[in-house]
Amino acid sequence: MNILGISCYFHDAAAALLCDGLLVAAAEEERFSRKKHDYEFPQRAIDFCLRTGGITPADLDYVAFFEKPFLKFERLLLTSLQTFPRSYRVFREAMMSWLGDKLWIRHLIQSRLGVPESKILFSEHHLSHAASAFFCSPFDEAAILTVDGVGEWTTASLGVGRGTELTLLKEIRFPHSLGLLYSAFTAFLGFEVNEGEYKVMGMAAFGTPSHMGDVYKLIRVAEDGSFELDMDYFSFHCSTDRTFNRKFEALFGPPRDPRWNFFTPASGYPAYFGEKPKDYETLGRENQRYADIAASIQRVTEDVLLSMARAAHRETGLRRLCLAGGCALNSVANGRILRETPFEELYIQPAAGDGGGALGAALYAQHTLLGRPRSFVMEHAYWGEAHESWAIERCLTDQNVRYRRYEDEGKLLTRVVDGLQAGKVIGWLQGRFEWGPRALGNRSILADPRRADMKDIVNTKVKFREPYRPFAPSVLRERAEEYFELPGAANHYPARFMLYVVGVREQHRGRLPAITHVDGTGRPQTVGGETNPRYARLIETFGQATGTSVVLNTSFNLKGEPIVNTPGEALSTFARSGLEVLILGDYVVEKSSVRPR
Ligand SMILES: [Fe+2]
Repeated sequence: MNILGISCYFHDAAAALLCDGLLVAAAEEERFSRKKHDYEFPQRAIDFCLRTGGITPADLDYVAFFEKPFLKFERLLLTSLQTFPRSYRVFREAMMSWLGDKLWIRHLIQSRLGVPESKILFSEHHLSHAASAFFCSPFDEAAILTVDGVGEWTTASLGVGRGTELTLLKEIRFPHSLGLLYSAFTAFLGFEVNEGEYKVMGMAAFGTPSHMGDVYKLIRVAEDGSFELDMDYFSFHCSTDRTFNRKFEALFGPPRDPRWNFFTPASGYPAYFGEKPKDYETLGRENQRYADIAASIQRVTEDVLLSMARAAHRETGLRRLCLAGGCALNSVANGRILRETPFEELYIQPAAGDGGGALGAALYAQHTLLGRPRSFVMEHAYWGEAHESWAIERCLTDQNVRYRRYEDEGKLLTRVVDGLQAGKVIGWLQGRFEWGPRALGNRSILADPRRADMKDIVNTKVKFREPYRPFAPSVLRERAEEYFELPGAANHYPARFMLYVVGVREQHRGRLPAITHVDGTGRPQTVGGETNPRYARLIETFGQATGTSVVLNTSFNLKGEPIVNTPGEALSTFARSGLEVLILGDYVVEKSSVRPR
């Protein structure tokens, strides 16, 4: 039985393929099209999935789409009619785009893949989220919480998964949305919505949540974890380009200029920003106010998620919780849910956002619609494309790049560890690329986390990012508890996917300055030898050489670009950045061998 799941036309388009109950491939379209957050029909991701499964569209038993287009169209239509004429532009743009491809998704899938109508199934947006978490988890029974911006009508749901059944207990509907509340602040703080949310989370660590009282004027939370927004402050329901309105600005002041660099008196002014501006102190103070607002919306979001999780526990009495939807990528909130609610175990699938809907739709079709038994647990995130040694070698040869091939893995890893210890920033590509937004050791940039200046070095050479975004560490799974406040670290799936922010142990904060955030926390990825043997051995080798089984791991991409997929893209990123060494599988390339292009 072959089931292809598809998500598109909203945030991240993606495809996932199940063959006989097992996941064979899953990838977001952006990794192939090279358009960040590409939401168009994921033809390339579909082609990749079919290629990996060794099948053609004719071999597909079903194609499952992640949401119901007509329900979503109804929501857009009714919302714009309710706020007409303020919403005239939303209405016009929605009509123009929806009467194109979006509404006729069944016909589109039919014509693109040549599969008959009877093989096309539809899930619902939040059911896809729920299925993507629960059916990938090792749990037979769990509470499921999904929280995002919006699907068709639902913005949050509470359900229960048992075996192959998903039961929805409660939902919250548009326009009342925790995701859209967070997005309104993302825009207010000068970041792109659906892209800058994690910047708000990083910025929050520099602030104190002194504006929570004002944030609570926008959202009322009930005892049972449900909430309502006061729509007088927002315009996302009646505008195509504004999420908040004048009343919101009267409360929080003017929005932050998106062109500003972010720094505060505590962060200092990073050298890679260039020369200090004359009004440096005023700008620092102004940024501090915005950091305080970021801290306030972050804390309120965490508190709302905590009250939803506590209510989910009260209502279901279950010990385990699955989380999905864009809000499940808020790793600070996830860490608190683990520590501060009675749930004993959490599962979050690495593509918790809308890309993961493709996988969720396929799993929903397989288990809930078709009643097939479960036989799969997502133990790792390596479901993307791999590139064989011959392809890497051909790419290097074609581009006239000098390289050295290491047949002996031990020697290769020693070479990498020597580079890290010498303070080099290393591009690292191996195996299949990761499913979801995080690089987890197959398309990563690696550096030594023990050096205080490494944050600035990586930023200056490669990332060019503001100091509000801490770098994350990869740690050997069995050693994780030594470094991080995460009891039983090896048992936590979300930590495999870098989805918990936890305390860095006091004695290690000073020793791991490049991955310890200003508030003493870190976002570790726990690495196990059974799911990523070479990466685990690399960290082990680094540990043997330095006494520290932790490396700094950030995604292998330049600012604004999707994470690299192919050796060619890695080479091009290498040439255009300050990376000093590039590892492509068994091949090592030095900077001197590549001309900048
Ligand atoms: Fe979603």
